[in-house]
Amino acid sequence: MSVQQKNHRIAVLDFGGQYAHLIANRIRRLGVYSEIAASSASAEELSRFRGIIFSGSPFSCCDENSPRFDPAVLDLNVPILGLCYGHQLLMKQCGGKVGKGSVRGEYGRAFMKRVNPSSLFDGIDDEEPIWMSHGDMVLHLPEGFTVIGSTPDCRFAAVADETRKIYGLQFHPEVTDTPHGMKILDNFLRICGCEKTWGSRIFLEEISRAITQACAGRNVFLFVSGGVDSTVAFTLLNRILGTKRVLGLHIDNGLMRRGESNTVLDYMREHGFDNLRVVDAAEDFLGALAGITDPEKKREIIGARFLAVKDRAFGDLGLDPDQWVLAQGTIYPDTIESAGTEHADRIKTHHNRVDPILDLIRRGLVIEPLAKLYKDEVRELGVSLGLPHGLIWRHPFPGPGLGVRILCSDGTALPIPGDDRIGLEAIVSPAGYRASILPLRSVGVQGDERTYAHPALIEGKCTWEALDGLSTRITNSIRSVNRVVYRLTGTNTPSEYRLIKACVTVERLERLRTVDDIVIRALHASGEYETVWQMPVVLLPLVDRRGGSCVVLRPIVSQEAMTARFVPLRRETIDTIIREAAAIDGIGDLFYDITNKPPGTIEWE
Ligand code: XMP
Repeated sequence: MSVQQKNHRIAVLDFGGQYAHLIANRIRRLGVYSEIAASSASAEELSRFRGIIFSGSPFSCCDENSPRFDPAVLDLNVPILGLCYGHQLLMKQCGGKVGKGSVRGEYGRAFMKRVNPSSLFDGIDDEEPIWMSHGDMVLHLPEGFTVIGSTPDCRFAAVADETRKIYGLQFHPEVTDTPHGMKILDNFLRICGCEKTWGSRIFLEEISRAITQACAGRNVFLFVSGGVDSTVAFTLLNRILGTKRVLGLHIDNGLMRRGESNTVLDYMREHGFDNLRVVDAAEDFLGALAGITDPEKKREIIGARFLAVKDRAFGDLGLDPDQWVLAQGTIYPDTIESAGTEHADRIKTHHNRVDPILDLIRRGLVIEPLAKLYKDEVRELGVSLGLPHGLIWRHPFPGPGLGVRILCSDGTALPIPGDDRIGLEAIVSPAGYRASILPLRSVGVQGDERTYAHPALIEGKCTWEALDGLSTRITNSIRSVNRVVYRLTGTNTPSEYRLIKACVTVERLERLRTVDDIVIRALHASGEYETVWQMPVVLLPLVDRRGGSCVVLRPIVSQEAMTARFVPLRRETIDTIIREAAAIDGIGDLFYDITNKPPGTIEWE
């Protein structure tokens, strides 16, 4: 019997909060399958779940237009857990009152004292550190609810109606800063009566059935980039359907890392997969990208080229396109970030979601075996499929490859508001630093909305801790800035940096590829490759006074790529990168990205 039939699953109602995915992922880590559902989902749609969790939101539930839930959900007779906004909304829709408290809000660590007993807090200390982030708060409880936990600034930090099994927490149990958060979520799953069946084994059983059904009478082809997602998907499909019915296409699009195509091919051959073809399509991709500067256009072109090259390869191999479905290694967060959940803005189009692919999806010609999994689950599946450690722990690499790390420009410097320059100066100069706003833009995500704004550049001797604080202060208060970089090398004054007309060219790619290669080698050599989750290297259309192109290093740590923190590398590693990059012709100053996500995304476009 499948997890679906058994109904042992949890819905996370997404009100647009940053942590909806984190909640769903935590529930799965506890062994119960969970799905993100739209906040507008009807009670009928939600009736197949054993329990429902309401996420946070960038909205205030006091606003008229803020998202609500179907009141009939309360009659489903399943346990409900509201978190942060979800807690406030639950209390409000049950008849309580929400508004501003006596303090402006609570942000960060707080201590909760347990008040009345509750099964939600079994195994929890009488006083617990918790993580808060809220402006509004619950002022009056609805009938039937009792308070089970309070902080000095928030009387109704945790509430319960034990009879109806409805709970509300003002804090976030899903973040690691609430040390016993997992225990609380686990208690909720127990209250829901969920069996802990979710994991690689059950996933394998279910996906095998689903794929066998979806591919009945047809074969499958898949683009194999060499990243963990496509490698796991390829191995999985080979395992389920056999190598005769699967064809892997590795397209060298000219946007790969150094030596990538050979590494992929060698690995697959070593593991007995003779059903992988390599197509050299660098000229094709680079030709289509010539002269293009708009980031979304670049993504569209790259996505569409993959399909065109596939069609050509099919022709060359004499394969009947009607007999083959396209498989993609898309994972769960990719499907959500691109489509944009109901209350979250579209961040950027994932290359697996460009129009021609959406058309194929609509026609039932695409299968996505990993579409329900988070990255950590894909890795776990990779382990159970017997993939080697080094391959499973490769850094994620975006489908459009270096194409999204080579920033382009038509050379027109974007205007920067004068007030923002003054505001930036006011933040950095008292601390003895210099800062400027760069005349280009990168993607960010702030308050669940997509931003396309300027990076600020900080100079001066500074500790990582101080830089972290400065970065947050700057992006919180300067409207036209969504990202902050710290200058590692060079002596240029801000006015000496020049924005240039720059597109995707072989020459620029080669420069970027060389620095990227230096970085990857340095991380392996220092043993930091696996402590860093991902480290994009970004080539800017910005040159210093000698005409050298500026390059950004962006090492981050993350759990699911939905949120990320910049990470300081060891000084010796940075020095190695600086020394080796200085020897490359055409490379100018190096910048270190000190932005977390939010407000900056991991990639720059
Ligand atoms: P962002 O930049 O949105 O990235 O914080 C989150 C994760 O997704 C990867 N990424 C992509 N992967 N195709 C992909 O296969 C894409 O178009 C794409 N865009 C971003 C990014 O590298 C990070 O791991």
